[in-house]
Amino acid sequence: MEVIKFAVLPGDYIGPEVMAEALRVLGHAATAAGLKLEYQHADVGGAGIDNHGKALPDSTLEICRAADAILFGSVGGPKWEKLPPKEQPERAALLPLRKAFNLFANIRPGLLYSDLRDASPLKTERIPNGIDIVCIRELTGGIYFGAKSTITLENGEQQATDTMVYKTSEIERIAEVAAVTARARGKKVCSVDKANVLETSVLWRRTVTAYFAKHHPDLALSHMYVDNAAMQLARDPNQFDVLFTENMFGDILSDEMAVICGSLGMMSSASLGTDKNRFGKPYGLFEPAGGTAPDIAGKGIANPCAQILSAALMLRYSFGQDALATKIEAAVRKTVTVDGIRTGDIAFGKPVVGSKAMADAIIANL
Ligand code: IPM
Ligand code: MN
Repeated sequence: MEVIKFAVLPGDYIGPEVMAEALRVLGHAATAAGLKLEYQHADVGGAGIDNHGKALPDSTLEICRAADAILFGSVGGPKWEKLPPKEQPERAALLPLRKAFNLFANIRPGLLYSDLRDASPLKTERIPNGIDIVCIRELTGGIYFGAKSTITLENGEQQATDTMVYKTSEIERIAEVAAVTARARGKKVCSVDKANVLETSVLWRRTVTAYFAKHHPDLALSHMYVDNAAMQLARDPNQFDVLFTENMFGDILSDEMAVICGSLGMMSSASLGTDKNRFGKPYGLFEPAGGTAPDIAGKGIANPCAQILSAALMLRYSFGQDALATKIEAAVRKTVTVDGIRTGDIAFGKPVVGSKAMADAIIANL
């Protein structure tokens, strides 16, 4: 029996609740497919701070290193908000994890089932069939990781600097991820930059253009300035198929995409690394796009779908189990649409169930 080994980092508030449901779904799916799951839990975020004095404890890193992928919950919350920004669970856990495993490619499906159109803040006539796009964000470069400083000038005034840096190789490897993603979909890619102002964007656009001309001439590549892309996403999201962009533009656009796709409770994400795991697939971190939802934590009512769909992405990208991933995705879709089983965030008049009942229904549909 093939063994799949991953680290489980549930995090804080609803993190552990939805993680438990995702692991149940994953367990059923794997058993049916003749796979054995081997996973180890580790503290991260606020749980890391409380139990080990650090958002990303060394012991957690070790467990991640021994695994082939990380299934991540979500971190942060009011309990740790008074800490200095650098020690906050989100930043002090996620950024070092991204660096430690070279997780350079963040892939976020922007999927809204047409049955859930009402969850979107967009007018339904703009999205008659829901939304189906993908946002790909460069995750280990740019202004997030360039040189930073805060200094005091001679006149006593303070000045802070962040630097946006990109190398050709960093741009090419994310362009490749966008191309591969587009090839499996509509063969259409829109690269987003600010080439009318930024040098990094001039290089980005030139590199992307040359890369596609050389390696993917059959794909339809277009370019768009980021301010326009933000408007176009809100106006007509389905004009895009695969959107891809640098780290900070992607941070903002992927959240915009998440909100127009309705509930954060349905949004999954994959962050893929440069390193290959024991399966010859990218080492990756898989997490829901939403947060820890402290307001509903402990009540058993959080939507577990985003965590379950993130587990499906893990099977697809880090373990090469595409068919099994598709099966889980189909089960989630059927549960929510055909069966109309809904947690509170996506109820719209339908009866509301809790996290566990939602996962049970998905398992029944597997
Ligand atoms: C995200 C988050 C992180 C980011 C923060 C918490 C550092 O907003 O994953 O998008 O900005 O990348
Ligand atoms: Mn963000």
